[in-house]
Amino acid sequence: MALLNAIARRSSMAAAAALLRPSTATVLLRCMSNVPENAVYGGPKPQSPAKRVTLTHLRQKHRRGEPITVVTAYDYPSAVHLDMAGVDVCLVGDSAAMVVHGHDTTLPISLDEMLVHCRAVARGAKRPLLVGDLPFGSYESSSNQAVDTAVRVLKEGGMDAIKLEGGSPSRITAAKAIVEAGIAVMGHVGLTPQAISVLGGFRPQGKNISSAVKVVETALALQEAGCFSVVLECVPAPVAAAATSALRIPTIGIGAGPFCSGQVLVYHDLLGMLQHPHHAKVTPKFCKQYAQVGDVINKALLEYKEEVTSGSFPGPAHSPYEISPTDFNGFLKELQNLGLEKAASAAAAVVEKSDKSKCSDGENATK
Ligand code: KIV
Repeated sequence: MALLNAIARRSSMAAAAALLRPSTATVLLRCMSNVPENAVYGGPKPQSPAKRVTLTHLRQKHRRGEPITVVTAYDYPSAVHLDMAGVDVCLVGDSAAMVVHGHDTTLPISLDEMLVHCRAVARGAKRPLLVGDLPFGSYESSSNQAVDTAVRVLKEGGMDAIKLEGGSPSRITAAKAIVEAGIAVMGHVGLTPQAISVLGGFRPQGKNISSAVKVVETALALQEAGCFSVVLECVPAPVAAAATSALRIPTIGIGAGPFCSGQVLVYHDLLGMLQHPHHAKVTPKFCKQYAQVGDVINKALLEYKEEVTSGSFPGPAHSPYEISPTDFNGFLKELQNLGLEKAASAAAAVVEKSDKSKCSDGENATK
């Protein structure tokens, strides 16, 4: 090793390794690398002890018939929660437009706004596969536009994959182009909220023969385009079952019944986060609320408001920073020199009051 150190000082470690016997050099280069033994390159580094979920993990789960769990997230705290819960896929959905920005539809959210959400989520969720939605208006014009947007979602948003809605021929071509650009794509059929203009509102799909066949055919076309999974939104359970059976890739249901390869719900909906009448109106009826977090938030905020109004918060327990008696006396003198007698008396009164309460606490403690 002393020899090696000497060589390394004069040249690079790789050159030093080349001077050694091949087997030693291989071992040395292996030690210098963070590339796992079974992969050619390192790939995205898992930043937590649990490794990042990849398409390979999802395929394995699917093959084993284990349901895939997907939840949306839009910011750092929600991403941390999903990570801690061990959810497989974290979807930065354009539902952010509604549940975070308060819009009536998903249409207004811009790519730049989505990228802010994506980056915050990427900082918080280290284990789940990260999928970023392409927002309305960012991919419909051409395959080139779709590829450029998808590239930004990965490069600037820190996502691992993208999701796009719909299955028109141009959308299938765009999905194929994105996959060919090296980006994993999740499809989305059934109710595609970005198409409410042509769907005539947030309406369930697949409720008649042609619509049900269209759901299955579109999902198949997305699979052929190279998508790694397809979201089935708001379709009857038997239609979702047919699509799941017809496809080799996993289906992720939302309002599509239990016969899908996995399920997705919107974070705010499943937590019962928003009690505002606007959100109550748009909370879908298929959503199960696993908590009433909104009630907890409302209660906490009311309590805070009352305590601040009554002066009981912050009390001594929440006023932790101290100034030594010597520094305090110096401070009083400085205030007086500055002509701020009133400020000095205010500060002195606080110290006197807290000394008195400490004395009475002490007396009570010795009783
Ligand atoms: O935007 C979103 O949250 C979605 C899910 C509902 C699948 O697309």
